[in-house]
Amino acid sequence: MLFYIQPPYERKFTLLEKYLIKGGMPLKGAITVSGAKNAALAIIPAAVLAKGVTTIENIPDISDVNTLTDILSSLGARVERPNRSTLIIDSEELCSCTVPYELAKRMRASYYMLGALIGRCQKASVSMPGGCDFGVRPIDQHIKGFEALGIKVTIDKGMINAESDRILGSHIHFDVVSVGATVNVMMAAVKARGITILENAAKEPHIVDLANFLNSMGADIRGAGTDVIKIHGVDILHPTDYSIIPDQIEAGTYMALAAATGSSLTIKNVIPKHLESITDKIRAAGCEVTEFDESIRVKSPQRLKKTNVKTLPHPGFPTDMQPQITAMLSLAEGTSIVTESVWEGRFKYVDELKRMGANISVDGKMAVIEGVDHLTGAPVKATDLRAGAALIIAALCAHGTTEIEEIHHIERGYEGIVTKLKKIGADIQKIQLPDDMQSKAQ
Ligand code: EPZ
Repeated sequence: MLFYIQPPYERKFTLLEKYLIKGGMPLKGAITVSGAKNAALAIIPAAVLAKGVTTIENIPDISDVNTLTDILSSLGARVERPNRSTLIIDSEELCSCTVPYELAKRMRASYYMLGALIGRCQKASVSMPGGCDFGVRPIDQHIKGFEALGIKVTIDKGMINAESDRILGSHIHFDVVSVGATVNVMMAAVKARGITILENAAKEPHIVDLANFLNSMGADIRGAGTDVIKIHGVDILHPTDYSIIPDQIEAGTYMALAAATGSSLTIKNVIPKHLESITDKIRAAGCEVTEFDESIRVKSPQRLKKTNVKTLPHPGFPTDMQPQITAMLSLAEGTSIVTESVWEGRFKYVDELKRMGANISVDGKMAVIEGVDHLTGAPVKATDLRAGAALIIAALCAHGTTEIEEIHHIERGYEGIVTKLKKIGADIQKIQLPDDMQSKAQ
């Protein structure tokens, strides 16, 4: 029984919906975190590494997951969704190794299909990842890893083509810490002949989750979560049942929301250890944070204190929390400094915050935030997923009403965010632009 999988031509990304948010309402109660987007986007492709039926639980119901299920279906896999958070993937009949451009262009992470398809059938063709809202997204480390494994990689007419008649284990040292390259090369190496060692590997919780998923299929991966991962190639992998970790960035987003709005919120379905660098900064800003086994409570002070943040690969402060913490600190007393060390140009959203009265000056990789007493509602635009989350935080703190456009960015990564926020007292509506404005906007 299919839960709902519309054929790709029927699914349209409406760019003309908005969030209407009335700020200043006190938030209270508990909010539950969904499965981790960035774990799901690696684990779903990895399911094709084993022939047969794999079940994945705690999948977030977000548009990026829908894009991946469309891609798997286009390759001949059967995908069922018996409920909102479960995927059943039967890859027995997988019959293609080329991801159509029309589907791949929707989402950068579609390039994870490269590693999965190479691991399954020793060849793959996927379109180059699109640009992104915050600068160039290179793939040189992915290619470095593939070529070290004896995989021939060519780029032709916007497609990345990879092929190998025999994948051989290798000792690979990444020049930069890259989540995507670690994911892709790990998937390509699980069935290589011999041992692969990945040095300077990414250590994010979703890297560990992918390694655990692959090991549950019979892979032999050790050291995930450290900067050296050792992979003993195996001949075959078998299908598995697996449950994805909770989303630490979604959890962190709601922690920053509680802090910014002067609320006391309990965030459920979390792994506190995954949140340590975020908890550290929320506490530094003056909040009381209490950790429980699978939840965390944030109690905000009357006024937040300034603090400085520098984003780093895990276990440092996550770059995917940078816009949200900046929105929070725009209301803190004093001057805070946020330094973005992972991505070029990830401060585009600051102009939108300044439309709401934030006092932030950006110089290259650094944002200097002069805390203000309050923000004021205004029409703003989400420039990417986490920027959109930052605007929601700002809007829920602001005096008056804020309209957020381009909300498709937000719905790529935050399951049911309107419903979840309404449950804790937020005044938020999702509206469609009137037809005449839609035709004008198109
Ligand atoms: C993943 O992107 C995440 N996306 C991003 O989250 C996240 O910001 C990023 O990791 C860092 O944590 C998914 O997991 C789907 P990288 P990825 O390769 O893999 C440079 C979100 O909001 N680099 O770790 O593309 C790169 O320029 C999204 O959920 C190279 O130089 O990021 C960057 O400076 C946004 N060469 C740094 O490494 C390469 O071949 C980190 O990039 C690859 C990357």
